Amino acid sequence: MKIFTTVDEIRPHLKTMRDKGKTIGFVPTMGALHEGHLSLIREAQQDSDYVVASIFVNPEQFNNKEDLEKYPRTKNADITKLEEAECDVLFYPSVEEIYPTEDETVFEFGNLDKVMEGKFRPGHFQGVAKVVKRLFDIVEPQKAFFGMKDYQQMVIIHKLTKDHNLPVEIVPCPIVREENQLAMSSRNERLTEQQRKEAALIYKTLKMVKIQSGFMPILEMKDTVERKINKSKMMQLEYFEIVDMYSLKILNAWAESNNIIACIAVHVGEVRLIDNMILFS
Ligand code: PAJ
Repeated sequence: MKIFTTVDEIRPHLKTMRDKGKTIGFVPTMGALHEGHLSLIREAQQDSDYVVASIFVNPEQFNNKEDLEKYPRTKNADITKLEEAECDVLFYPSVEEIYPTEDETVFEFGNLDKVMEGKFRPGHFQGVAKVVKRLFDIVEPQKAFFGMKDYQQMVIIHKLTKDHNLPVEIVPCPIVREENQLAMSSRNERLTEQQRKEAALIYKTLKMVKIQSGFMPILEMKDTVERKINKSKMMQLEYFEIVDMYSLKILNAWAESNNIIACIAVHVGEVRLIDNMILFS
């Protein structure tokens, strides 16, 4: 695997590959890689000739300084995992490399960044969009692979590519889960063993929601979810929403949409976890 840290090095290399007719698949990450990330690499390998992963802990998307400081950084282990997965290129830039000058761009996402993650993490998606746009400009991939685990992020990046006419196809990839069905996340590393066990309740609750969807009124469902999660002494619900899969409009009745997803954010001790489940599509 080739490792590049600067734009001036990676750009000519990828141009050579494109000139040879190779299609480029891109997997942006913030490192602390796990099976969820590696599943995106495998998807990219199936769909493209040459696979580029990036690792960049993007300060712009952290609205909480402590979360940024505590974000796990496992460079050597990450490189080994990518090598074992036979990823072709790793882009590992510094903050100065990605943001050489002040960038005041403001992205317009309408409702998409006002709800759920956008509501509870102000500025988060502006930071995500800024870095992803910059990375797309550098890598110029034909396809980019995003996990459904961060469903709202995937929808927002899709809108970003449409609004800016970026010639990249966004490929959504399924959520990879641990044995107890907890969605894999770099933040899981910060959970104690007991918390990790307890966090299985998030998936169990989403399963219950799916079984009752269309029957139990949405407002009653929200109350039930809040009670179920908050009953655990280790967990605190931040939000639970049932939304249209495309507009992310918050639904109050099942009849309002045919494509419905349930999204949840929970604090487990100091760690904030998100998950989701498609209910109808
Ligand atoms: P990060 O959290 O490292 O995630 C990188 C990619 O891996 C995202 O597309 C995310 O949805 C996907 N992913 C994470 N956990 C997953 C799981 N359990 N199953 C499937 N896919 C999973 O998301 C980011 O980084 C950043 O916001 C980024 C897009 C890199 C911009 O900084």
